[in-house]
Parts: sequence; C-alpha cells; structure tokens
Amino acid sequence: MTSSVEDHGVGWSSLWDSGESDLWDRGKASPALVDIIEHESDLINPLNQNGSRKKAIVPGCGRGYDVVMLALHGFDAYGLEISETAVKEAEAYALAQIKSPSAYHFRSGEHRQGSRGSATFLKGDFFSSDWAFTEDIGGSTKFDLAYDYTVS
Ligand SMILES: C[S@@+](CC[C@H](N)C(=O)[O-])C[C@H]1O[C@@H](n2cnc3c(N)ncnc32)[C@H](O)[C@@H]1O
Repeated sequence: MTSSVEDHGVGWSSLWDSGESDLWDRGKASPALVDIIEHESDLINPLNQNGSRKKAIVPGCGRGYDVVMLALHGFDAYGLEISETAVKEAEAYALAQIKSPSAYHFRSGEHRQGSRGSATFLKGDFFSSDWAFTEDIGGSTKFDLAYDYTVS
C-alpha cells in the first residue's frame, strides 16, 4: 500500500478534527528554542539594524506554542499549518497568551519586558508554494528565521 504526500495532509487534518492532537502536543514552547533565543540574543536579535522586526516562520506549528514564544521575544512570527482546525486553535491560543503569557515562554520563568511582535497563522501545505504568495505574510517571502519541530 502506498500513500501520497496529499494523504499525509488529510491524515493530519483528520487527527486535529477528531481532537487527537494530544498524541504529539507537549503543551508549551520548545525549551531548547527558548534557551537559544534568550541566550544567543546577540546572534538572534529580533530587530534589524533599522529597528524593523525580523520575520520568523514555524512550519507545522500545531497549536502555535513556538510562534507565540517568538512573538513575545520581538519577532513578527508566522505559523504555517495544513489543518484548518489547528489554525483556529492556534489563533485562540495566541490571543490569550499574547495578553497574558505563560511562564514557559521565558527561560527564567518570568515575563521579560520588551516589545512584542505579532503572531500570524496561515493555512497551507509547507511542501507547496501557494501559501508563500498570500498578502498575509507581510509582502515578502523572505524569512530571517525558520524553526521546525517535527513538521511531518
Ligand atoms: C507532530 S505535529 C508538531 C506540531 C508542533 N510543531 C508542536 O511542536 O507542537 C506536526 C504538525 O505539522 C502539521 N503538518 C504536517 N504536515 C504539514 C505540511 N505539509 N504543511 C504544514 N503543516 C503540516 C500537522 O498538522 C501537525 O500539526
């Protein structure tokens, strides 16, 4: 029996639709990414030299934990998801967390003051380029940082 890449997308979407995201959902941002973003802040500065925000993308972002964490650290962060349900859950999660962030977004467990970027979620297949030509991604397909944790 063979299965195509398109079938994988349908498979992921049906897992989201049937409420089975707890199979992989660890419920918080990746601790190693939080570490790098805070520890290597000279190397991974969220701002360009002219003060504009850098753009980050997380393909297969699930509920959007890493997207929100990056936004809280000053990036304009984008999450890409093949599942419409995941996009909706991520949008609801981001709305609540940007207002009142959980401790796990910060290395010290404490909320760091600083300006926040935005968290935007897009529905699309990472392996197709369609999503890269929507206006939702701020007019340019260039990203400064990409982070993938088990997209597929
Ligand atoms: C194992 S989960 C990891 C989710 C998230 N990175 C996390 O750490 O919670 C993989 C996610 O990637 C999404 N996904 C799988 N294939 C994809 C594709 N081709 N394009 C976009 N998203 C995809 C799934 O819907 C699922 O939410």
